[in-house]
Amino acid sequence: MGLTKMGNVIILGSQWGDEGKGKIVDLFSDRFDIVARYQGGHNAGHTVFIGDKKFVLKLIPSGILRPGKQAVIGNGLVIDPAALLSEIDALEAAGVPVTGRLLISNRAHVLFPAHRMMEKMSEARPGRISIGTTSRGIGPCYEDKIARRGICVADLLNRDFFRAQYDSVMAEKVAIAKALGIYEELDLPAIRAGYEGFAERIRPLVRDTAWFLNQAIRDGRSVLFEGAQSTMLDIDHGTYPFVTSSNASAGGACTGTGVPPTRIQGVLGVSKAYITRVGGGPFPTEALDARGERIRARGKEFGAVTGRPRRCGWFDAPLLRYTAAINGFDSIVVTKLDVLDEFDSIPVCVGYRNAAGDVLDMPPTVAEIAALRPVYECLPGWQSSTFGISSYDELPLKAREYLAFLERQTGVEVGCISTGPERNQTIVRAGSRFEQLVG
Ligand code: GDP
Ligand code: IMO
Ligand code: MG
Repeated sequence: MGLTKMGNVIILGSQWGDEGKGKIVDLFSDRFDIVARYQGGHNAGHTVFIGDKKFVLKLIPSGILRPGKQAVIGNGLVIDPAALLSEIDALEAAGVPVTGRLLISNRAHVLFPAHRMMEKMSEARPGRISIGTTSRGIGPCYEDKIARRGICVADLLNRDFFRAQYDSVMAEKVAIAKALGIYEELDLPAIRAGYEGFAERIRPLVRDTAWFLNQAIRDGRSVLFEGAQSTMLDIDHGTYPFVTSSNASAGGACTGTGVPPTRIQGVLGVSKAYITRVGGGPFPTEALDARGERIRARGKEFGAVTGRPRRCGWFDAPLLRYTAAINGFDSIVVTKLDVLDEFDSIPVCVGYRNAAGDVLDMPPTVAEIAALRPVYECLPGWQSSTFGISSYDELPLKAREYLAFLERQTGVEVGCISTGPERNQTIVRAGSRFEQLVG
């Protein structure tokens, strides 16, 4: 076995998404050689501000914005080639070179327009629980993968195989869609021809990325794994069925890239100083009052992909304890602290109760989660601006006390704090585990 350089790290969301993963990954990707996405698809929207330029990354790892870094789309993703190519074109038009730096797994699965049609089966049919998805076809594409009839990138590049497989899989979808009354006119041969064109454009970027990453690690290069969605949207550990269809939690980094757990040295969680969720599903600390509206307005809490207003609520410590256990967080980043600047008091959920008493675990069903009553402690707000502060000592005392309270309640170090969307609006705690892992 060759040399293994210390320092391959996973950065992922600890709540229901949109915690600011894009900002954090972009910021720290300069310390790594390669940034790899391991799951999800163009349902993700990772926003990065660099000066007056705004980028929203959907399929391409946020590390692409750092000159000279390599970016990998791992086998765990589902790829809509049209979305990928338009993202590549938009980045290149904005002066970010992509070709030559982006590699795409030959084992990632390919998403087709028919997947979006099939999503109507779960979202719009009477009697089905509507999840409030991003309508990108993500779930149905993963369904095909798990059902062993999916088309992966390597299949797409093999024209004869692709044609036969595509015709057979699509014929089934059309039959089901017609029977269920969700069929919409799809010009299947024209779509197939379009995908053959996409195949030629992505062919130069396609690799066995598991081989590539493991080789790179053996050669002493470091990898930052970028999560999408988040732990509470994980298909196994989230608020099922109000989840996405992939493993967003830390385990997904291994299965979604082919890099073994023995090659990953750290896991960092990203959490807002409060919490949001887009789409349906239980949300114990949701603030349905004017204060929730205030968080939404101050935090500009509208979906980066769909523009939907995000549901807003208070920091949920039991939820973070749960996601810390699932992921083994070494440290967390608390983002959007500045959004709480004006509140005179800030509730933090410290425990759950239901009709039978205290609830210590995360219940497995949405009915049980919906029945939880959060127990709050109210902390005094700092009522002064933290926006853009980049030194811990300059934070108002009450803001530092708020962060210390989150640390005590969650049992996890707050190693990094974000006080604005830009790179320099960030604090790394000196001497923290966080600093050790990304410093
Ligand atoms: P992601 O999906 O986890 O990457 O997060 P999104 O990009 O969907 O949403 C986070 C939003 O918050 C983006 O618009 C970021 O620019 C913004 N943001 C990130 N960190 C901060 C912060 O510390 N303060 C403020 N005010 N905005 C932030
Ligand atoms: P990032 O990476 C927030 C939510 C959808 C819906 C559920 C399932 O930007 O944090 P899907 O289209 O994945 O089948 O939808 O998951 N969802 C997200 N919410 N941030 C995301 O990504 C999300 N990706 C999916 O709103 O509730
Ligand atoms: Mg997002």
